[in-house]
Amino acid sequence: MNKNKVYIETYGCQMNLADTEVVMGILNNKGYELTKEIDSADVVFLNTCSVRDNAEQRIHGRLGTIGTLKQKNPNLVIGILGCMAERLREDLIDKQKMVDLVVGPDEYRRIPEFIDTAVAGEKGIGVKLSRTETYEDIEPYREEGLSAWISVMRGCDKFCTYCVVPFTRGRERSSKMESIVEEVRRLSEKGFREVTLLGQNVNSYSDGENDFADLLVACAEVDKNLRIRFTTSHPQDLSDKLLYAISEHDNLCNYIHLPVQSGSDRVLLEMNRTYTIEHYLGIIERARKIIPGVTFSTDIIAGFPTETEEEHKMTLDVMAKVRYDGAYMFKYSPREGTRAFKMADDVPEDVKSRRLTEIIDQQQKIAYEINQKLIGTEDIVLIENLSKKSDQFYSGRTGTNKIVILPVAENVQIGDYVKVKIYKATSATLFGEFLEITDVYKR
Ligand code: SAH
Ligand code: SF4
Ligand code: F3S
Repeated sequence: MNKNKVYIETYGCQMNLADTEVVMGILNNKGYELTKEIDSADVVFLNTCSVRDNAEQRIHGRLGTIGTLKQKNPNLVIGILGCMAERLREDLIDKQKMVDLVVGPDEYRRIPEFIDTAVAGEKGIGVKLSRTETYEDIEPYREEGLSAWISVMRGCDKFCTYCVVPFTRGRERSSKMESIVEEVRRLSEKGFREVTLLGQNVNSYSDGENDFADLLVACAEVDKNLRIRFTTSHPQDLSDKLLYAISEHDNLCNYIHLPVQSGSDRVLLEMNRTYTIEHYLGIIERARKIIPGVTFSTDIIAGFPTETEEEHKMTLDVMAKVRYDGAYMFKYSPREGTRAFKMADDVPEDVKSRRLTEIIDQQQKIAYEINQKLIGTEDIVLIENLSKKSDQFYSGRTGTNKIVILPVAENVQIGDYVKVKIYKATSATLFGEFLEITDVYKR
C-alpha cells in the first residue's frame, strides 16, 4: 500500500518546529509529501512537548480525537515524535493503542523505516539518544517564507533540577559552523529575510574551533540585509564577546532572551541555575552599556518547591529591576525523573496561581510603561503578515522583537523592511506609521 501523505502537528518550542522541518526533509527525500489536511493524510505525526504536565495533557487529548480518525480509516499510521516520545517510550504504545510508532528526537532518520514497519502491521519504537546526531546534512523542508529557523546545537547539559529537556534531548552537540553559514546563505538566496539560530543553550555552542559569538558574526556577514536572531541564552555563559558582536553588526538583533527563572539566590541554587542574581544583573547592565537599546525577555517559574512568600517577592523585585520587554511565565510543574521531582511539590496550587497572577500583572504593567516611552520614536520593522484583525493593516516586528501594526500602503509589501514611527502602544503591541522602505543595516 502506498503511504505518501504526511500530516504533522507541532507542539512545544522552536526546536520542535525546526525538527518538524528536518523530519519533512527526510520524508521528502523518500517521496512523501506534506499535507495540511489531516483528513487526507496516510500518516499523522504529533511532534510533542513534555516540558510541563499541561503540555502533555493537551497532546493526550488530541490523540483521543485522532483515534476516531483511525476508527474510520484503520490503515492510518499514527506516530508520536519529539520529547514525549522520548520520555514515555513503550508506555505510549501500551496505553494508547492507536499509536503505531514512537520516535525520539535523535532517531528521525529511521522514520521512513518505521512507517514501513507500521504498514506491515507492527509497532515501531526508536528512542535512543545520540551524542553526535545534528542532522546537519539534512536540508530541512521549508515552505517559502520570510523567517527560518536553524538549530545550531542540540541537547542540554545544564540539568536544571525542574527540567526534562536534558532527558528528552540528550547531551549537547553543535553543528559545524560552515554548514550553518552555508544554510544561511541558501536561505538568503531563496529570499528569506530573517533567520533564528536555535539551541536550548546557544551560548555553549562550540564546534571545536568556533564559539557562539564567532558563529553569529559569520552568519551576520553572509547578507547584511538578513536579520539574525537567536535563542535561548543561559546567563552563565553569556560572554562580553557576544555582546560586542551584537553591538557591531546591525543585522544581529538587539534582543536577548535571558531566562532568570527566580529572583532568589536560594531558589536558583535549588534549581541548579549556576548563577546568582548579582551575576545576572551584571550581565544586563553590561549588555545595556555595550548595546544601546537592547531589549530582554525572560522565563519565570512560580511556586518552585520550598519557595517562600519572601522569595516570590524577590522574583517580582528582579523583574522590576530589569524591566523586561517580555516574559514567559509558568507555574512549576513536577516532572518525573528530574531532581526536583524528589522534592515535595509543597507550594499549594492556589498559592502558585496567585503568585503567577502577580508576576503576570506586574510584567504587563512594566511592558506597557516601556512601550509608552517608544511613542514618537522610529524603528525598522520587517513586514511579516496582514494583521489578524484587519486586512487594512500589516503586522511586523522590530529587531527588538516588538510587534508593530501599520496601515497597508500601496508600495509596501510583505517581506519589506520599513522604517516606521510609533504613535500608539499597548503592553503587547506598537502601532506605527510608515516612513520609508529601507535596509536592516540602516537602523
Ligand atoms: N533551554 C531554555 C528553555 C527550556 S524550556 C532555557 O533554559 O531557557 C522553557 C522554559 O520552560 C524554561 O525556561 C522554564 O522557565 C520553563 N520550565 C521548564 N521546566 C519547567 C517545569 N517543570 N515547570 C514549569 N516550568 C518549566
Ligand atoms: Fe532545561 Fe535548564 Fe537546559 Fe533550559 S538550560 S533546557 S531550563 S535544563
Ligand atoms: Fe518541549 Fe522538548 Fe522543546 S520538552 S520545550 S519540545 S525541547
